[in-house]
Amino acid sequence: MARDILNEFETIHDEEKAIDTGKKVKIGIIGCGWIAGAHIIEYLKMEDVEVVALADLIPGKAEAFAKKYGVEGAKYYLSGHDMLENEQLDGVSICTYNTQHAPCAIDALEHGVNVMLEKPFTVTLDEAIEVMKAEKKSGKILTIGFQPRMSANIQMIKKIIDSGELGKVYYMQAGGGRRRGIPTPYGTTFIEKETGGIGAMGDIGCYSLDMLLNAVGYPKPLTVSGYTANFFGVDPENYPGHPEYAEKFGVEDFAAGFIRLEGGIILDFRISWAMNMDSCGDTLILGTKGGLRIPSMDCYNGDLPKPMMIYKNVAGKKISFEVPKDEAPDLFFKKLRSFVDAIKTNGKATVSSKEIVINQAIIDAIIRSNEAGREIEVVIPEV
Ligand SMILES: NC(=O)c1ccc[n+]([C@@H]2O[C@H](COP(=O)([O-])OP(=O)(O)OC[C@H]3O[C@@H](n4cnc5c(N)ncnc54)[C@H](O)[C@@H]3O)[C@@H](O)[C@H]2O)c1
Repeated sequence: MARDILNEFETIHDEEKAIDTGKKVKIGIIGCGWIAGAHIIEYLKMEDVEVVALADLIPGKAEAFAKKYGVEGAKYYLSGHDMLENEQLDGVSICTYNTQHAPCAIDALEHGVNVMLEKPFTVTLDEAIEVMKAEKKSGKILTIGFQPRMSANIQMIKKIIDSGELGKVYYMQAGGGRRRGIPTPYGTTFIEKETGGIGAMGDIGCYSLDMLLNAVGYPKPLTVSGYTANFFGVDPENYPGHPEYAEKFGVEDFAAGFIRLEGGIILDFRISWAMNMDSCGDTLILGTKGGLRIPSMDCYNGDLPKPMMIYKNVAGKKISFEVPKDEAPDLFFKKLRSFVDAIKTNGKATVSSKEIVINQAIIDAIIRSNEAGREIEVVIPEV
């Protein structure tokens, strides 16, 4: 089950660039759980990077992590804050559970450290705005860890729209989602309110939002009518061997939203950790000159189960054709390499807070709309 839920990212490099190893980039990692493993594997491959410090709240976890991955010479801390106080870091990977994203990112930026923050950006819109204020004040890089942006397939969606082949995009329907896939193979940090903060939307929904919103240039949301549910998360039958997890479940296992975006685009969004259906279906992008069908997929690995299809009317004939599918290797290496390169060149974030705050505003609005039981307006404060 873990293999189904948690992607095993391939580590074959398809591009090797000459890198200056003269000065090592000093990296720290805050949170030594599952995803930190994907970060350390890639950092250890980089000759110009030194992982100098590891922090985890759980005593002994950072040390065990270092042993498991063969990290030598790192210092260990019991909190990200202690690490930031005592180390001179160039960059930090924040791999904590969601509710610690904002405090750790603000702390790192206030210490003048560049930040690679795992997705989702934060739990609430307010938190995202506070992180952006700290980013602005610090002048440091803040990039959010959406590795699918490194996938040629995901990039192709944007290229197709930018080419004008679809005409004006007016409607997008998000697909995908899991039939049974509440992520508890390593414990309950994803499903508890205190640690996860948000559920299916923060885990996988944010990827499908990013895939679609990035493709159309991240227009702002105007209004959202949202719905969230937790029927499966609170049912002990869904945790074989761990029925007690049901009582800990404090987030959503399903969410849907009808979102009006600036520029006259409707986004019809749904995501699921568990439902009585195989999938929410394909992702559809409708334009005035063409439509794009993206087969139901796990957006986070940037891979497609089969090619995307374009539908058009040409000279009075209905035609459709495949978009050749690409391999999507090495996404984590590329994501972390782009962060290190940005640090070395005083460059920009690959996935910026200016974009992802919109993603977060939609998730936040779906939750607030569900609580209010009606459509709500979305206002994103300027930073
Ligand atoms: N990009 C991806 O493909 C991907 C995949 C899985 C998870 N994630 C994201 O990564 C994050 C972590 O997920 P995970 O599965 O590794 O969770 P996890 O629960 O396995 O690990 C999180 C760790 O952070 C530690 N921690 C929390 N707050 C801390 C703090 N202030 N200082 C030091 N340590 C702290 C916890 O003790 C825990 O060991 C989540 O936000 C999740 O959404 C991303």
